[in-house]
Amino acid sequence: MPRILDGTAIAAAIKQEVAEEVRQLVAHGIRPGLAAVLVGNVAASEIYVRSKVQTCADLGLFSELITPSADTTTEAMLDLVHGLNDRDDIDGILIQLPLPAQVDTKALLDAVDPDKDVDGFHPVNAGRLQAGRPALAPCTPAGILEILRRSNLPIAGQHAVVVGRSDIVGKPVAMLLLHENATVTICHSKTRDLPAVTREADILVAAIGRPGFITAEMVKPGATVIDVGINRITTQAEFDRYFAGNAKREAAFAKRGSTIVGDVHPQAFEVAGAYTPVPGGVGPLTIAMLMANTVRAARMRRGLPQRSA
Ligand code: GUN
Repeated sequence: MPRILDGTAIAAAIKQEVAEEVRQLVAHGIRPGLAAVLVGNVAASEIYVRSKVQTCADLGLFSELITPSADTTTEAMLDLVHGLNDRDDIDGILIQLPLPAQVDTKALLDAVDPDKDVDGFHPVNAGRLQAGRPALAPCTPAGILEILRRSNLPIAGQHAVVVGRSDIVGKPVAMLLLHENATVTICHSKTRDLPAVTREADILVAAIGRPGFITAEMVKPGATVIDVGINRITTQAEFDRYFAGNAKREAAFAKRGSTIVGDVHPQAFEVAGAYTPVPGGVGPLTIAMLMANTVRAARMRRGLPQRSA
């Protein structure tokens, strides 16, 4: 039986450590603070951002939720970001994506002070990460590394294959794995004979954004499979493709009319030595690492040493 890597438990351990660190900082008069910017009324974004703000409260961080209307402009958003950059009580700035089409997302992300860029989306942080300098790394990739480390799964010398080359997941996770001395291959839609490449992976990271894309024949027996995908499926045909015969999922699907599948087909997990389930794998780490990044930013900005890893 493959080992299930419990992201919820790992995230809980990290959050507990962050809460303890916040207590120590508060005792020295420093309360790390996060500004969360949520534009308009995208339902999924609202759920994510409220959860981020709630977690701040749970762990003792200061947070401020800022909710510009959907018809805001690039100029108004730039003014907002500049104001947050200047505030001493704000250590981290999170601009929930996606933004409305009329807002220039790149201009806005570039305007965030790199030292407050707790999402790790600023090109300066991408550069710092690549150069092996202290950087705020994007939360999902940083969370993947925490899962591997805290599960005592070896990275050095392993062949890690990352499927997907996004700036938010694929590229940064490849860089983090490289810094841990993995041999890293990045695959994408133009990769020739993808199954032949993924079958070489000791660590396979699936970050494509397509439901069930990684099938059992693409996984080397015993590999560690990290599934970053969150895809909502709503039709019975889709459900049957991934979960036929799974009574627990069937009941949940019947009740809600939808369920979540990752980028890895559930049958492919059976070939793995260890894997992150969806839900309950990588997802919970994203918020935990956002909290950790905010505390890290608070220390960095004040020239305080980082807590040792
Ligand atoms: N939208 C979806 N995921 C994320 C994330 O991790 N950060 C931000 N800012 N927006 C997102």
